[in-house]
Amino acid sequence: MRETALLLIVVINILRADNSRDCQALTFGHGSVVCECNATYCDSIGRVGLPDLGQFLSFVSSKAGGRLLKSQGQLQKNSSGTALRIILNPNQKYQRIKGFGGAMTDAAAMDILSLSPGTQDQLLKQYFSPDGIEYSFVRVPMASCDFSTRLYTYADTPGDYELVNFRLSEEDIHMKIPLLQRAQSLSARPLSLFASAWSAPAWLKTNGALTGKGSLKGKPGGKEHKTWAQYYIRFLEEYGKYNLSFWGLTSGNEPTAGQMTNYSFQALGFTAETQRDWIALDLGPALHSSAFASIRLMILDDQRLLLPHWAKVVLSDVHAARYVHGIGVHWYFDRIAPPDITLATTHHLYPEYFLFATEACSGWNPVDRGVRLGSWDRAEDYAHDIIQDLNNYVTGWTDWNLALDLGGGPNWVKNFVDSPIIVDQSKDVFYKQPTFYSMAHFSKFLWEGSQRVGVSISQSTVLELSAYIRHDGSAVLIILNRSEEDMQFEVWDQTLGFLASTAPSHSIITLLWNRQ
Ligand SMILES: *[C@@H]1O[C@H](CO)[C@@H](O)[C@H](O)[C@H]1NC(C)=O
Ligand SMILES: *[C@@H]1O[C@H](CO)[C@@H](O)[C@H](O)[C@H]1NC(C)=O
Ligand SMILES: *[C@@H]1O[C@H](CO)[C@@H](O)[C@H](O)[C@H]1NC(C)=O
Ligand SMILES: *[C@@H]1O[C@H](CO)[C@@H](O)[C@H](O)[C@H]1NC(C)=O
Ligand SMILES: *[C@@H]1O[C@H](CO)[C@@H](O)[C@H](O)[C@H]1NC(C)=O
Repeated sequence: MRETALLLIVVINILRADNSRDCQALTFGHGSVVCECNATYCDSIGRVGLPDLGQFLSFVSSKAGGRLLKSQGQLQKNSSGTALRIILNPNQKYQRIKGFGGAMTDAAAMDILSLSPGTQDQLLKQYFSPDGIEYSFVRVPMASCDFSTRLYTYADTPGDYELVNFRLSEEDIHMKIPLLQRAQSLSARPLSLFASAWSAPAWLKTNGALTGKGSLKGKPGGKEHKTWAQYYIRFLEEYGKYNLSFWGLTSGNEPTAGQMTNYSFQALGFTAETQRDWIALDLGPALHSSAFASIRLMILDDQRLLLPHWAKVVLSDVHAARYVHGIGVHWYFDRIAPPDITLATTHHLYPEYFLFATEACSGWNPVDRGVRLGSWDRAEDYAHDIIQDLNNYVTGWTDWNLALDLGGGPNWVKNFVDSPIIVDQSKDVFYKQPTFYSMAHFSKFLWEGSQRVGVSISQSTVLELSAYIRHDGSAVLIILNRSEEDMQFEVWDQTLGFLASTAPSHSIITLLWNRQ
């Protein structure tokens, strides 16, 4: 306890005076607003500097329509006397953050490129530039997935075990690669790209098709499995020719999908056992003896419901585990997969392997399907899942399609979903959905290397929260209020004092203060 007396905290002034950066709000009847952007205008959080010692910055987005509304306040020596006190425990240290991002699918690339060049730039800036929300990760599908307009792989010539006819697609060369290069040039830091494949070429598979239930022919160590490993190397080489190097890759998108009868889109079935053996005998050695030996390999890339079982099978085998760095998780069915018995348990069993969220989207569930312009429920779904993941050792979170059209596509199998950015080609505009701001509350503030720290609370609360210390020593606290009432609280940083604030109903708040 400090001898200094406890005092009230007051938010002193609202800094957001610059109208030119306000959200151009539009309502479509789904609970909250979207922000409309065109080639010359878009709301922007701008560059966020550190407040002076003793001050804090607060950014609030809410169902009522605020989007990253900035205010500044002063830390006080005395408590405000508010019943709910959130106490920062910087000495309790957990995992470090890697980053946040989305996926450059064929569909996202087509939708972005359907806009005029100026609007395309505006959209890419929103995600990647220092004035935007500073995404640092991009997932890149290898060849087609459901978010493509046709089915293809890079090696569709039957019997081409040496991959002499391996070719990137038009979608890579004319769409995804140029956009990734532009995204990279807008970003202040090198982007971390990671690749995921949906299906192997049909001729390598038991079912002779890219869709449905099927796996690689033969056994791990056999020629089909070796060729499929080499396909990854060839992919990395081809992207390298365009100066795009990869931070990581996954062992394949949703391997359990390819075990389901009549699965409707591209999939390649692996069990945990066959994935383990393919990594041990084929993919691991192929990467190790290639120019990409330092790339991070993530297993699973599927629902966290499969943990810890999947990790136990693969990582308790030294021959596979030596090639693995992390575990990728998707968010579908998270409601029936408690984070402690899936994520935290896996972390405690295998603390040297990082957990990373590799895919999530709204609008995938048949009871609430497709695009909902302005849905605040979906913003809360994102923030809730991110906080839950991060509080259970996940080191980063990757959204699905960076952009989609008004119908939630294109998607060749009509698996239409939602995206944080919805493009309206006919008006040459795009809409920043509430989920865009959910991502922003994390991606803009939790720089790579930020370390999650402990927080304790003075009384039970509906608020969900997660706290971090960044490498410059500053503190970030993210709070989600999914309840109907405004609630006052104060934060106690024992080295500095008290920070009083209010979490409006249905809001996401990021608090940032300097500690040194
Ligand atoms: C802070 O608390 C101390 C001790 O309770 C009290 O003496 C002092 O007046 C308070 N300061 C303010 C500004 O309220
Ligand atoms: C872009 O949006 C701004 C703000 O809504 C508007 O003033 C401007 O006219 C728009 N530009 C075009 C070309 O529509
Ligand atoms: C890759 O980068 C090098 C060095 O910066 C440059 O000379 C070359 O033109 C680039 N190649 C492509 C395909 O962008
Ligand atoms: C799978 O598809 C085949 C051919 O359309 C059909 O006969 C079969 O009933 C389907 N099986 C299931 C489980 O849906
Ligand atoms: C969260 O929102 C509810 C509903 O408006 C409100 O009563 C409550 O005070 C808010 N929580 C905080 C901590 O402000």
